[in-house]
Amino acid sequence: MIRTVEDRRDGDRRGGERRDRRELGEPIIEFKGVWKRFGKTKIYEDLNLTIHKGETLTIIGGSGTGKSVMLKCLLRLLSPDQGSITAFGEEITGRDEKAMLPIRARIGMLFQGAALFDSLNVKENIAYPLRQHGWTDEDKILHRVQETLDMVNLPGVDHKWPAELSGGMKKRVGLARAIAIEPEVILYDEPTTGLDPTNVKNIDDMIIDLQKRLKVTSIVVTHDMGSAFRVSDRLAYLSNRRIDWVGFKDEVETTDSSSVRDFIHGNLDE
Ligand SMILES: Nc1ncnc2c1ncn2[C@@H]1O[C@H](COP(=O)(O)OP(=O)(O)O)[C@@H](O)[C@H]1O
Ligand SMILES: [Mg+2]
Repeated sequence: MIRTVEDRRDGDRRGGERRDRRELGEPIIEFKGVWKRFGKTKIYEDLNLTIHKGETLTIIGGSGTGKSVMLKCLLRLLSPDQGSITAFGEEITGRDEKAMLPIRARIGMLFQGAALFDSLNVKENIAYPLRQHGWTDEDKILHRVQETLDMVNLPGVDHKWPAELSGGMKKRVGLARAIAIEPEVILYDEPTTGLDPTNVKNIDDMIIDLQKRLKVTSIVVTHDMGSAFRVSDRLAYLSNRRIDWVGFKDEVETTDSSSVRDFIHGNLDE
């Protein structure tokens, strides 16, 4: 099933390519009727969202609304109380760690803060998920590490330590680690937080570039509306314990839902 929407935004360019039509591929990840609470605090009440193959979808919403928790539920680092989450057509809820491995092997994650292991050098940071997924050949590992560092424009830093890197470089190493396993889906949690405008643009460009080159599906969480509009095909607004609005970014200005528009306008300068 392909849904197409005319692109009404003249001159919209993405990765230097004019796209006149918007298309949605087949569903690749689905949240269906998801409920979640922590103690007495209700986080989700009947949350639904479908992410389609090849798109970049950004989840926006106020602080503490459960954006990161969505990504963690998708990796099954947390579990919903009720409802279904599927990835690649397979149910995730209820899976144990072992059963999650083949799913996690297809999903790369850039965590909030891009936390690198300070006690491991860049090479071992990037090799970590490879080793987790059974890579043992040292030559192959080094080759893959160098390949991914090239992709994030940081060739030759494999021997450096996290403490020797700037904030922007750390994010890029985190990104290299996320793509090392050649994921089909990449999750980005606040990838540009704490970066200066040049580095923000840098990371945004990389998200767009990876989507184009690797044909991955990307789910981004950000509070930076500039980034959200640059990198995304669609936006999903998390509010009132559910996905309150979802649509192509150019539909924001014409939607009947004023709440998403108000949220975006209220956060444009952040
Ligand atoms: N493991 C946890 N245990 C208890 N509460 C949590 C846990 N993870 C997140 N929360 C709470 O759930 C809410 C949503 O968190 P989060 O998804 O991190 O928000 P954000 O939208 O800012 O990313 C917050 O109130 C947070 O304190
Ligand atoms: Mg968060």
